[in-house]
Amino acid sequence: MTTRPAAVIVLAAGEGTRMKSSIPKVLHELSGRSLVGHAVAAAQSLEPEHLSVVVGHGRDQVTAHLADAAPAVTTAIQEEQLGTGHAVQCALAMLPELSGVVVVTYGDVPLLSGDTLRALIDQHEADSNGVTVLTAHVADPTGYGRIVRDEHGAVLRIVEHKDADEETRRITEMNSGIYAFDADVLRSGLARLTADNVQGELYLTDVLGLARADGRRVGALVTGDAWQTEGVNDRSQLAALNREMNRRVTTQWMRAGVTIIDPATTWIDVTVTLERDVVLRPGVQLHGSTRIHEGAEIGPDSTLRDTTVDRGAVVIRTHAEGAEIGPHANVGPFSYLRPGTRLGKKGKIGGFVETKKAEIGEGSKVPHLSYVGDATIGDGVNIGAGTIVANYDGVHKHHTTVGDHTFVGSDSVLVAPVELADGSYVAAGSTVTSHTEPGDLAVARARQRNVSGWVDRRRPGTSTLEAARRARARQTGSDVVEGSDQ
Ligand code: UD1
Ligand code: CA
Repeated sequence: MTTRPAAVIVLAAGEGTRMKSSIPKVLHELSGRSLVGHAVAAAQSLEPEHLSVVVGHGRDQVTAHLADAAPAVTTAIQEEQLGTGHAVQCALAMLPELSGVVVVTYGDVPLLSGDTLRALIDQHEADSNGVTVLTAHVADPTGYGRIVRDEHGAVLRIVEHKDADEETRRITEMNSGIYAFDADVLRSGLARLTADNVQGELYLTDVLGLARADGRRVGALVTGDAWQTEGVNDRSQLAALNREMNRRVTTQWMRAGVTIIDPATTWIDVTVTLERDVVLRPGVQLHGSTRIHEGAEIGPDSTLRDTTVDRGAVVIRTHAEGAEIGPHANVGPFSYLRPGTRLGKKGKIGGFVETKKAEIGEGSKVPHLSYVGDATIGDGVNIGAGTIVANYDGVHKHHTTVGDHTFVGSDSVLVAPVELADGSYVAAGSTVTSHTEPGDLAVARARQRNVSGWVDRRRPGTSTLEAARRARARQTGSDVVEGSDQ
């Protein structure tokens, strides 16, 4: 069955005091998405007609985040947090009159999957329920609402921990707070809620008892996967759920044909794409829109954000953001690729090299100790060790072009703006400030001058002078008299 729910309502107005944070709880991140982003993604997989997030604490920040991350979502404001029932009332007040299935979930339960919500709706429809609640059996249900069933196992009502007697508190089946409601049942139940309970709140959970009293069927989907019902209240739970989410993500990629040497130290955002026969070595973090193509090898110890690595490339101990690494290219170890780096097929960016807005052509190499920024480097170029592109004059950034098959000698400075023609050379140690023509050798350094006998005159009594004398003796074939430097 593929019923589209009339609406999914995500409750996210709570304060989250235990996070001890100036950031609203639902904006904390896990696996590359905010907590509320995970809730919205699960909801969106159901293709609901309406998707509403109830916001309260930190609502400006949450609303701005949603406008950016999920523009199709509408928000409803709950000024005061008068309870989960009140929160749903706030959402319904903002929506047109609904009929069909209304799903309610929380903004702080990030592992809940769209598949589980789908299964909840399917059971709700198959059993013609008025309400179906997602539940789980847990070892320690302290704090949760308990599922009270009759002698036949039918759900009677939910009792909050704080309102429960000793016997009810022994029930280990907990309310996840995730439900599928028939829209009429929800509306009619909400209209009759009272704050007649220990917390003085309007409890959404009371709608189940009311539905049952009205003669509607109330069902439960018991999940064996309690992680999917767990909320984040503090940072230690955030870390635990993050690890479990990552375990699930890495397992899914291994099943899809990716080799992950050490899943425990490999962190992959849910937004990342990997192809078959990718190898991820220990200590790799892949973030954002990163995409790794077939057979590429990443790691150990590399962090890639919004970076594309093409087929068969090898990236070792690298930090890359907004970079494109071409097929069969080599990067690392100890390379820093900043946004706008584009390395061509079979190119190389080596150790202690930093690049930014740098297009480096096919088969070109920047192998050692260089900075290349605001530069276009052609095909088959060799940039010698220690070359620096001086792109910044203190006020403006300027562009540098290095033509195809040009050879830049070690320890050169290319002072932008400058253009080296195709097929030219730069002598090692040059400070290049003007353009070259094809076939030129640019030499931009002082000519060498040797001052003969300087060490004899100015460094008497040193081991350097002894070495010089020994070398002269070897050249002339005579003996050196040890210590005869007076
Ligand atoms: C609620 C359920 C409880 C269930 C538990 C699961 C009720 C009365 N109780 O407990 O049976 O076991 O969730 O975690 O529903 N929220 C609002 N506005 C409010 C109150 C809450 O948006 O006025 C949001 C919170 O941001 C949170 C969610 O609703 O995302 C649950 O609120 P929380 O206070 O954590 O749950 P409880 O009410 O303790
Ligand atoms: Ca909670």
